[in-house]
Amino acid sequence: MTCHSKETITLKERPKSKKCYESLCQLIPGGVNSPVRSFKGLGVDPIVAERAAGAFVYDVDGNAYLDYCGSWGPLIHGHAHPEIVAAAQWRVAQGSTFGITSAIEEKLARLVIKHVPSVERIRFVSSGTEATMSVARLARGYTGRDLLVKFTGNYHGHADFFLVQAGSGLIDLTPTSSSAGIPEDIIRHTVCLPYNDIETSRKYLLNPENSYRVAAVILEPIAGNMGCVAGTPEFLKMLREVTSSIGALLIFDEVISGFRVGLGGAQALYGIKPDLSCFGKIIGGGFPAAAFGGRKEIMEYLAPLGPVYQAGTLSGNPVAMEAGAKTIELLERKGFYKDLEEKTNLLTKPIQEYLQKHQINACLPQVGSMFTLFFGRRQVRSMEEAKEVDLNQFAHFFRYMLSNGVYFFTCAA
Ligand SMILES: Cc1ncc(COP(=O)(O)O)c(C=O)c1O
Repeated sequence: MTCHSKETITLKERPKSKKCYESLCQLIPGGVNSPVRSFKGLGVDPIVAERAAGAFVYDVDGNAYLDYCGSWGPLIHGHAHPEIVAAAQWRVAQGSTFGITSAIEEKLARLVIKHVPSVERIRFVSSGTEATMSVARLARGYTGRDLLVKFTGNYHGHADFFLVQAGSGLIDLTPTSSSAGIPEDIIRHTVCLPYNDIETSRKYLLNPENSYRVAAVILEPIAGNMGCVAGTPEFLKMLREVTSSIGALLIFDEVISGFRVGLGGAQALYGIKPDLSCFGKIIGGGFPAAAFGGRKEIMEYLAPLGPVYQAGTLSGNPVAMEAGAKTIELLERKGFYKDLEEKTNLLTKPIQEYLQKHQINACLPQVGSMFTLFFGRRQVRSMEEAKEVDLNQFAHFFRYMLSNGVYFFTCAA
């Protein structure tokens, strides 16, 4: 059997996992604390993790899985890296939270500011959602404008005003929310445009009826949430030019790409300086930390210096700061990203060659260690194209890999 055959895959019995998941379902909606963990649509019960080390995660039945998901991005050094574990253990013994400011926050702030020159000032929060939600308020407060422009297929966490899709991508459609419980009044301040579509975006942003209302354009410069779809350099360059010309801010959501594609993130790779950026995942080193930062004059609009309120009991948590700082120090070691890309290529190149040789209708876009295997299309540049991929084939592939002890990540498409 091959991963692209249609044969039925029998997965190993996992009695303890099954029992544990059933118990969780009695207590927690869907048995999970984040929907994607339920493996919905993949035709297989979720993994119930017990422990993890290095490249492997082990379920409660004792099965080992080679983990290509890495907790959705934070674990760039693998699970339980000894130096990160030691740093966090030492820090937790010094007190796990203070509720007052601490020197360890300076250490991580300096590391981020050193590597990401567009970030002159930074504020730490506890999740990517908090970072994007706060950055949106800051952009609106700074510009005195209400409208946020985002792109279909880009995910910026689960704040109400980001959970918006614009129908078939037509900009004059009334935007519709992708979750129940979001008032119309809120989503009417978000506009969703097609990713990588230069003309549509330029036309919308330069239209005098819109331009004076746009507070910010936010995007994943390398999208990871519809699968890996890189923004084209021309698209990003156009957004930089147009936002500057209309007095709107450009926000890069680098929650995935930050410290993943290089120490300077996607903005260094493309040579584009956004006004504000969001980080998460890797900067917490596997602990709940995220951040937003950017130009000093904008960041100083935040309380206590300025009028934009933003706060958090566990923001800048010392254990997360220590783990994040150690994670970045490990990334600074010579040759890290080159090695990471070479390791990724060991996996992706043979797949690319196989697809080519057997003329399989699939593609594997890759930027450094970010990649996705899409079935049913030879190229994916936007959500509109990602919607055409063969998700049944992907589910089959996912089950095939899992039955062979490999846990692959799913794509949201
Ligand atoms: C690009 C991007 N922004 C924001 C978020 C939200 O981060 P969190 O899940 O930490 O709230 C995510 C989560 O995957 C993300 O991929």
